[in-house]
Amino acid sequence: MNSDVLIIGAGVIGLCIARELHKKGFRRIEIVERGKAGQEASFAAAGMLAPNAETDKIDDFYHFCSESNGLYPGFAAELLEETGIDIELDRSGTLFLAFSEKDAAVLRNRFNWQRDAGLRVEHLTAAETLGLEPFISTDVCESLFFADDWQVENRKLLAALLKYTQLNGIEIQEHTEIQRICLEDGKITGAESASNKFLADLTILATGAWTSLIKLGEAAMPIIVKPIRGQMIGFHPHERLFQRVIYSPRGYIVPRADGRILTGATVEDAGFDKSVTEDGVGKLREAALEIAPCLGDFEISDRWTGLRPFAAEGLPILGEIPNAGNLFVATAHYRNGILLAPLTAKIIAARIAEGKVSEYLKIFHPQRFRGVEQLSQLL
Ligand code: FAD
Ligand code: GLY
Repeated sequence: MNSDVLIIGAGVIGLCIARELHKKGFRRIEIVERGKAGQEASFAAAGMLAPNAETDKIDDFYHFCSESNGLYPGFAAELLEETGIDIELDRSGTLFLAFSEKDAAVLRNRFNWQRDAGLRVEHLTAAETLGLEPFISTDVCESLFFADDWQVENRKLLAALLKYTQLNGIEIQEHTEIQRICLEDGKITGAESASNKFLADLTILATGAWTSLIKLGEAAMPIIVKPIRGQMIGFHPHERLFQRVIYSPRGYIVPRADGRILTGATVEDAGFDKSVTEDGVGKLREAALEIAPCLGDFEISDRWTGLRPFAAEGLPILGEIPNAGNLFVATAHYRNGILLAPLTAKIIAARIAEGKVSEYLKIFHPQRFRGVEQLSQLL
């Protein structure tokens, strides 16, 4: 098939871009996926939409996160209308607990600058915190409450995006690993796997942690993305014990509507190894029990891992490879790809469909990698 747009990678980023391009009128969109669609980092994630809880400064990345978060209510409503799938956007907010004077000092610092910057953050006493979440540890000293940090059921989000592709004739070729972006006479003509060529007017790399493994013609990919493993565990108490996402400095718990409680996550440089380790599970359980000792009454019901796509400074890589004109990259969303998917898709699609260059494309452009500058001179 000769597509208008070839998207490599069917994670949340590739699927959101496909949907956005389809809404802008593109009809021949093909997605190629090395495994099964929507089963990698986007599936492993906790689904927190948390621009504020972990932030220590207001910078371009903060604004990018915050703006994308603001798209979620509309995005969730549209997906429900388009696919009938409720992605369980939960706007109950996020608590960040302190269990020691050292934890409290970090929280107070965050509270002071965020309040001074006009962000929505509240400083709560232990009693106020326990009033909101009675099942947490009575050892809590104080907490911060972030009303604008939410959560979404990321697996339902993936299900909704996949349903959108099915309903709208967007083809997904699964179990097909792209090895090379094809370059002919200085122009990108698509991509190839071991046995197939996928010709397209325009190619988008949404390949998460695996991006650097793909060749660009005969050259190595000049964009450096590495996998950072995150292990997670789950408990399933069958009734909803917590209403909000709850962090401590050592981990977080995310209560789902069906009673499941996800606990995350490790941050490990372990290459492409997706093992769950005894050490990782032990540390996660400890972090969960510090937040809520009552979780010790439940078996660990589930354990899994995912590979976060990390690039220099932890910042995403978004936009066009200069001079190629028809090769785009949308990757390296590291710890915030679920949060950043709606805005990423909007700015990439607006660039492709209307030539609009968002400020964020100027900030997170791929040319910040020296090899991309050099490569673009060859095109
Ligand atoms: P992926 O979902 O990994 O998708 C990339 C796809 O590309 C994969 O399916 C892969 O198979 C495919 N692919 C790669 N190479 C090729 C190739 N050569 N040919 C064909 N296909 C290819 N983010 C948040 O916003 N909130 C959270 O709470 C959160 N929690 C997280 C918790 C954990 C444990 C982890 C691991 C991540 C978490 N994240 C969170 C981060 C988020 O999951 C990622 O940033 C996001 O999923 C990245 O999306 P993606 O589509 O780029 O990557
Ligand atoms: N954003 C949560 C994580 O990456 O673990």
